[in-house]
Amino acid sequence: MQTAFRSFNLVRNLSTKPSLFNSTQLTKDKYPYLRRGPYAKIETTDIHFFQNILGVNYVITDQTELVPYNVDWLKSVSGYSKCVLKPKTTEQVSQILSYCHKRDIAICIQGGNTGLVGGSVPVFDEIILSTSAMNDIISFDKLSGILVCQAGCVLENLMNYVQNEGFIMPFDLGAKGSCQIGGNVATNAGGLRLIKYGSLQGSVSGLQVVLADGQILDSLSTLKKDNTGYHLKHIFIGSEGTLGVITKVAIQCPNAPKYVNVAFIGLSSFHKVLHLFENIRSKFSNSLSSFELMDSVAIKCVCENIGLKCPIDDGLEFYVLLELSTDHSFMTKSLQDFLEESFMQKIIEDATSADQPSQIESLWKIRESIPESLLRFGYVYKYDITLPHKYFYQILPDIKERLNNKFNVKAISGYGHLGDGNLHLNVATTAHNEDVVSELEPYVYEWTSQYKGSISAEHGIGFLKRKYLKYSKSQLEIDIMKKLKNTFDNRQILNPYKIFP
Ligand code: FAD
Ligand code: MLT
Ligand code: ZN
Repeated sequence: MQTAFRSFNLVRNLSTKPSLFNSTQLTKDKYPYLRRGPYAKIETTDIHFFQNILGVNYVITDQTELVPYNVDWLKSVSGYSKCVLKPKTTEQVSQILSYCHKRDIAICIQGGNTGLVGGSVPVFDEIILSTSAMNDIISFDKLSGILVCQAGCVLENLMNYVQNEGFIMPFDLGAKGSCQIGGNVATNAGGLRLIKYGSLQGSVSGLQVVLADGQILDSLSTLKKDNTGYHLKHIFIGSEGTLGVITKVAIQCPNAPKYVNVAFIGLSSFHKVLHLFENIRSKFSNSLSSFELMDSVAIKCVCENIGLKCPIDDGLEFYVLLELSTDHSFMTKSLQDFLEESFMQKIIEDATSADQPSQIESLWKIRESIPESLLRFGYVYKYDITLPHKYFYQILPDIKERLNNKFNVKAISGYGHLGDGNLHLNVATTAHNEDVVSELEPYVYEWTSQYKGSISAEHGIGFLKRKYLKYSKSQLEIDIMKKLKNTFDNRQILNPYKIFP
């Protein structure tokens, strides 16, 4: 076993933006049964109105410039919006919504456009309200650790900002270079450190939201404890742009851990992965900040399609990236001992560990590059499910058998946040094929619901999964969700065609 870190070449700055040239089929053509809602069509007078509020530079109508806003990161859906609005202030958002509400103009809210369920782009010609110009950091209180900022702040910028103050953001995603805090809250993003820092529902202390009719709802509490009445912020966390525009976020940041250790580990069976997970939890309990699983297919794709190098034996079945975050200097030694012991007990086959930031970043890069590496084949069918740990990888052999030697499938991979029971099942092909979809859906969702799992662990429902909401929500739950939608957005102008079947 190697415990010394070996350096290797990295491909940096992975593209997380769709290309300027739209080769994606329009959603309306891909799903011909869809009907555009009875919304007003944008007219020149509307554009003039928006230009008056925002200034001409913040209203995009140029055909070429519109393309990346109309296509999602996966290039799986595409709208044909003729207008992108880029407000800078809450008041501007309020004026836009109030106008659209009166005129019956449908709106798609967009943050960094890294969403993976088709929620961030229009389905037809909804105008796009982009929050990317709303990127001010408003305050940071070192006593409470609460950061207040506008919704369009890019997650990585916030991470860097709080790091300088000795804090960290309570979550991290591979899309951090592009995704925005408003989008993160709107999707209730999970990510790579949820096992230690919990979900955004726990760390967001308050939100400012502009409602569909333009009213500004100020629930931007910076208090850690506040039990006065209903906790309205929770309705917007995970609402995926269907209930209001999140304009400001107050979020609690933990102190930065003094020591971070990462291990990249190879194992020969899934059974051993679970054994390792059980052992690491019992030994390091609350210090465990990530436990990420990658199967051999994922690693092969990262090596071949991105050009990264596996830092340990690349011929194993499973790989785990685990991270420990603590204030104890002895952690490096304890982790080394733990790895040695696991090796002696034949639980793990190979491992390398790192405690220096640049080495840690290099190991994380392998895990974070998996989505991009699969997309390089052309098209990815993506499933993001929660399962009890013991069934976590069990669906993979079933899917391989269903698709075996058919449809020119390029890769079938399972990876994800095993610590949280969140599997990312990905099937990659060169192009979209309805026959592949028929093999996978509703099969994957039925399989998940049979094990009482969730059909969306962290990406949300958006456009792509709306037909399958019933596999994770009862009819009563869906009815209550619809009532809430009608209460907040009685004209259904916010992100229509999303979430609801
Ligand atoms: P967008 O994609 O722009 O929008 C997502 C949804 O939120 C849309 O429905 C949109 O209408 C709505 N929305 C956006 N901003 C607002 C707002 N201000 N107010 C109201 N609604 C709004 N997700 C995870 O959970 N965990 C991961 O580990 C993870 N890793 C990823 C890795 C990669 C490489 C990629 C490409 C994506 C990953 N994602 C992950 C998915 C995605 O990054 C997250 O869903 C992210 O939170 C979306 O943020 P965004 O700003 O890009 O939002
Ligand atoms: C991840 O964990 O890498 C993200 O959720 C993206 C994906 O599912 O591919
Ligand atoms: Zn994920």
